[in-house]
Amino acid sequence: MKNRIDKLNSLKQEAQLGGGQARIDAQHAKGKLTARERLDVLLDEGTFREFDMLARHRSTRFGLEKQRPLGDGVVTGVGEIDGRIVCVFSQDFTVFGGSLSEVHAEKICKIMDFAVKVGAPVIGLNDSGGARIQEGVVSLGGYADIFLRNTLASGVIPQISVILGPCAGGAVYSPALTDFVFMVKGTSYMFVTGPDVVRTVTHEEVTFDELGGADTHAERSGVAHFALDNEVECLLAVRKLVSYLPLSNREKPPIRQTIDPADRFCDTLKTIVPDNPNHPYDIKDVIRDVVDEGDFLEVHEKFAPNMVVGFATLDSMPVGIVANQPASSAGVLDIDSSVKGARFVRFCDAFSIPLVVFEDVPGFLPGTDQEWRGIIRHGAKLLYAFCEATVPKVTVITRKAYGGAYDVMNSKHIRGDYNVAWPTAEIAVMGARGAVEILYKKSGDGKRNTEELVRQYNEEFANPYEAAERGYIDDVIEPQYTRRELIRSLRALKNKIDQNPPRKHGNIPL
Ligand code: HXC
Repeated sequence: MKNRIDKLNSLKQEAQLGGGQARIDAQHAKGKLTARERLDVLLDEGTFREFDMLARHRSTRFGLEKQRPLGDGVVTGVGEIDGRIVCVFSQDFTVFGGSLSEVHAEKICKIMDFAVKVGAPVIGLNDSGGARIQEGVVSLGGYADIFLRNTLASGVIPQISVILGPCAGGAVYSPALTDFVFMVKGTSYMFVTGPDVVRTVTHEEVTFDELGGADTHAERSGVAHFALDNEVECLLAVRKLVSYLPLSNREKPPIRQTIDPADRFCDTLKTIVPDNPNHPYDIKDVIRDVVDEGDFLEVHEKFAPNMVVGFATLDSMPVGIVANQPASSAGVLDIDSSVKGARFVRFCDAFSIPLVVFEDVPGFLPGTDQEWRGIIRHGAKLLYAFCEATVPKVTVITRKAYGGAYDVMNSKHIRGDYNVAWPTAEIAVMGARGAVEILYKKSGDGKRNTEELVRQYNEEFANPYEAAERGYIDDVIEPQYTRRELIRSLRALKNKIDQNPPRKHGNIPL
């Protein structure tokens, strides 16, 4: 018996070392943690239970039969974040560069299947050279097995990808299928083809970082939702995100206790909207004053900043905030902001997280660039997402609600549950000057007094009262009561039931 226990202990010790001390040192020298050290930061202390520590690859080609490290380059298992269960896999770059073999893929699939069965998020820590070259098509099959599971688990459990090293070629499509992608500046990169192939094919000179680093994906492509300065900050940010999410679509979002009074007045909001409708203000100041303790976890902060999305709590209940940002391009809706908003709305709807919308939007962005790149079909994504969402949906119109954007931003007509406006709201087909230009185009006899017509238009249309008269908004509220009114409405909507017609699935304009 003792011999057998000694053998078990020696195997477990061997597994801890992954690809060996020299490769661990090389990993540290790059400023990176090992697969196991990362799990220590991510998970509550002492909660990790490992699966398949003793698995080994089955390859017999290219001399691999002589190198069969335990675990085969990925650490998988279950652990806890703030006492709540999560499933994890963490690729070990010290073993064949974290490359994905048949067995490596089987381990990831097993933990994903387990996660769906028990209803727990999957958090994947990616650090890999891609398909294990020595295994050929078997490795490609392994990726496809993961992609299928990513797709089938979508909307069932939250899926979070953390990129902590290379993630290239077809391997990028697993993170791309998940709900949130985190990256670390300087050490992680994602691309379909690397700088060498780019140089050969398009003759462009580009560095790894420019092509697929954290800033590139957080600001330009929108592939990454979060870009952090180092691995520890990144893993702590993942913990924070998880604290807002239900573990699966089978449960309600978690209560995050607050001491912030539900009826607190938001005094800064009394004067936040400038008198001049063309002057900007920062919608994040509004959000922070309204939500519990000013705590707002922004998603996609640097991508399409004219739309702000993220998580907060109101009265201890998680909500998804979707807001136009007047401080960036006047809060106009364009292709990127529409897609960003649509994806966030659909995530919240899938996981029973109520939506709170702050609206100040001058319309959709005009121009050939936007039209030719398809603002029509991309804008339709946001419209579709709000239309189909059945979670509690509330809207506060702070200032402009113009044109089609009025309909899109969770209007009453598309099942907004509680829609209010501040007295500063301007709900109209378009801004006064544009309207006057069109209406009086042909009466250019010099007699017309443009300023007077603008004043008349503003008085008649640029206010919330016609919409209120028709019930298109439920109330006009003073800004300082916004927090109190939102919380009251969300309490009333707590047990809301709504549904869409039976169908295989809708056909969102992709
Ligand atoms: C097998 C691999 C490997 C791979 C790295 N290694 N990638 N082994 N299959 N794909 C091994 C290396 O041989 C090396 O082993 C160790 O991992 C560390 O690699 P280094 O090259 O020394 O590290 P570094 O200099 O940091 O470079 C990392 C790297 C580079 C940029 C990722 O290794 C690389 O370019 N690898 C190949 C990437 C690739 O083309 N993969 C296939 C992509 S296509 P030793 O023993 O020397 O330590 C793909 C298709 C997916 O993935 C399809 C899904 C649909």
